[in-house]
Amino acid sequence: MRKIMVLGGSCGGHIAVRIARLGDYELGDIEVRKFPDGETYIRLVSNVADKDVVYVNSIAKDVNDLLIETLFTLETLKELGAKKVYAVIPYFPYARQDERFNPGEVVSFNVVARMLERAGIDEVWTIDLHLHRVEDISKLFKIPARNLTAVKELCAYMKEIYRLEKPFIIGPDEEAEQWARVASEYFDSEYDVLEKQRLSAEKVVVKPKHIRDFKGRDVLIIDDIISTGGTIVEAVKVIKNMNAGDIYVAVTHALLVKNALTKILKAGVKDVVSTDTVLSPTSRVTVAPLIVRELSKIGE
Ligand code: R5P
Repeated sequence: MRKIMVLGGSCGGHIAVRIARLGDYELGDIEVRKFPDGETYIRLVSNVADKDVVYVNSIAKDVNDLLIETLFTLETLKELGAKKVYAVIPYFPYARQDERFNPGEVVSFNVVARMLERAGIDEVWTIDLHLHRVEDISKLFKIPARNLTAVKELCAYMKEIYRLEKPFIIGPDEEAEQWARVASEYFDSEYDVLEKQRLSAEKVVVKPKHIRDFKGRDVLIIDDIISTGGTIVEAVKVIKNMNAGDIYVAVTHALLVKNALTKILKAGVKDVVSTDTVLSPTSRVTVAPLIVRELSKIGE
């Protein structure tokens, strides 16, 4: 098997370092900066020729700049002789624009997928991808693609730090069922999902599917993304009305737009925990071991 080199982009360097240390892989170096006019300059400082390269970059927050950075880097890796290129995009952008909701709209999710394929990469990996109307990642890509989940890692943290024993698991909407189910298996406890209607990018209405009395039992809300925080705040209102004890929130990707974290904590949540796919004050679980485990399967 060829040697693996791990490279991190502007929003993936912290994960790349952890992967390299944990898996004992070579850590490569890239220079990324801006030209005075705002254009992106990238230089692969390390020699990638004849190596299998794992390039890690989340495409979040500074979405369009990071997309350009990722595409420029991936295409150049192959030009410079990398044998195989694995694009690890822990936070995959534009996943919520997976359909033409109104006439003439760009289906950005598909466009991003095509751009990555055209960059000549061999595989794309992501974590807890927001799959809603596209129900499987293999339907999005024509190249091999893996969607890993960090839910067990998040649950392990909650169990260790908060000594949570059989919390009731809540997914704030029907799409969150996939993560709520994994968490309920981890804790060997029950789960349910709520009903969410999105009125605008910032406004949602959340209702219970089943009326329950938690009688003071702790509740763990599991979701893939916190963006504006609207979903979690509305879910918390519903759960509080059902006599929950302590309410905790665990999500994979904490984008935390504007004052999302303050809003959620003020709503009465005891703690919000996320992974390091996008760095934030809530990033307390690293996804590096998840990626290293997957890398150990390469060539199997
Ligand atoms: C959408 O369905 C996702 O799973 C999240 O629930 C959503 O993106 C969260 O967004 P916000 O925090 O803005 O409500």
